[in-house]
Amino acid sequence: MGDSAIAELEQALERRRGDGLARTRRIVDGPQGPRLSIDGRTLLAFASNDYLGLANAPAVVDAACDAARRYGIGAGASHLVVGHCVAHEALERELASFVAPCEGARALLFSSGYLANLAILTALASRNDVIHADRLNHACLTDGALLSRATLVRYAHCDVGSVAARIGAGSAGRRFIVTDAVFSMDGDIAPLPELLELARRHDAWLVVDDAHGFGVLGGGRGSLAHFGLGSERIVYMGTLGKAAGVAGAFVAAHPAVIETLLQGARSYIYTTAAPPLTAEALRASLALIAAGEHRRLHLAALVAAFRERAAALPWKLLASQTPIQPLVIGDPARAVAVSEALLELGVYVPAIRPPTVPANTARLRVSLTAAHRMSDIDELADALAAVASRVAR
Ligand SMILES: Cc1ncc(COP(=O)(O)O)c(C=O)c1O
Repeated sequence: MGDSAIAELEQALERRRGDGLARTRRIVDGPQGPRLSIDGRTLLAFASNDYLGLANAPAVVDAACDAARRYGIGAGASHLVVGHCVAHEALERELASFVAPCEGARALLFSSGYLANLAILTALASRNDVIHADRLNHACLTDGALLSRATLVRYAHCDVGSVAARIGAGSAGRRFIVTDAVFSMDGDIAPLPELLELARRHDAWLVVDDAHGFGVLGGGRGSLAHFGLGSERIVYMGTLGKAAGVAGAFVAAHPAVIETLLQGARSYIYTTAAPPLTAEALRASLALIAAGEHRRLHLAALVAAFRERAAALPWKLLASQTPIQPLVIGDPARAVAVSEALLELGVYVPAIRPPTVPANTARLRVSLTAAHRMSDIDELADALAAVASRVAR
């Protein structure tokens, strides 16, 4: 490798640092929870997607340990070779009937939400098709759309009128409306009933990414249950590393959709199955989600309390009723400075910057979990107020 090639990379990295856009990893020691050991310090953290506090729930940990003794660790192969275990099979059945996007739905497990979204879009869409996608969709939905080679039309955030204006035009290929159900960096909920109606009118598929709604909304069943929706044209994707507290993802849909993914999705076929112990941990977690109304109620009370306290801050609190509570600061370097000032007070809230969010909307992404206590919200609000009076102006 020539010196100039390395120098070019180093210059690009330096520019990134200069723009306040360099990313760093923090090293966590110990299980997830409100008090996290980060880089050797114990901090009150509002950063994880473990919305129900299940990532370290004793029943989930026990299920994983028991499964490790029964099945070992590695799955050994892809699902289509010898990696598909009774634990995966049982979990798929339980997820399908829990989320039930349509009558007789099946579910298919993936090792991550990223792979699941790639699978949906590449197995169902191709060159002559059109994908209408919300401008604020998660990066992996965009990547899946690009990989599919379909025409990608990005519509204004949650703007049903803007989809309606364009979905009737163009080729006779398949049409897709693709949306996050709960937007990962904004916390708002997509207008799924209106999008489904539009999909019906134009014979389109509705792809719903419920990474942040599964476990939280609709009694834990997710965004479809939240709105009371069901349809054979819905392709539902839920992730299992956020509210479910473990890892992986699943697609739930009509059996013909699931069989199409199983037969044709490269990100399903050409990857090793997740360890069976994660499937058993998830079965335990699913039982806690189903019986977890007390967790969701506590979480809703935390969200309400935070919103009340945060309204007085000088930053824009986005209109979100979910555990994702963003405070938009704007400038990336300023967002980082606020996050670092909070760290000095023992509170960790990550600064999210472009390209994860649009230019000039760098923000603090406060995420609340059912494991937080009301006094944690007070501590966070006090720290934010103290930092606001120091650095916001
Ligand atoms: C909306 C959304 N979809 C998909 C994903 C990807 O899921 P996973 O982390 O399981 O790959 C994420 C987050 O990571 C997400 O926020």
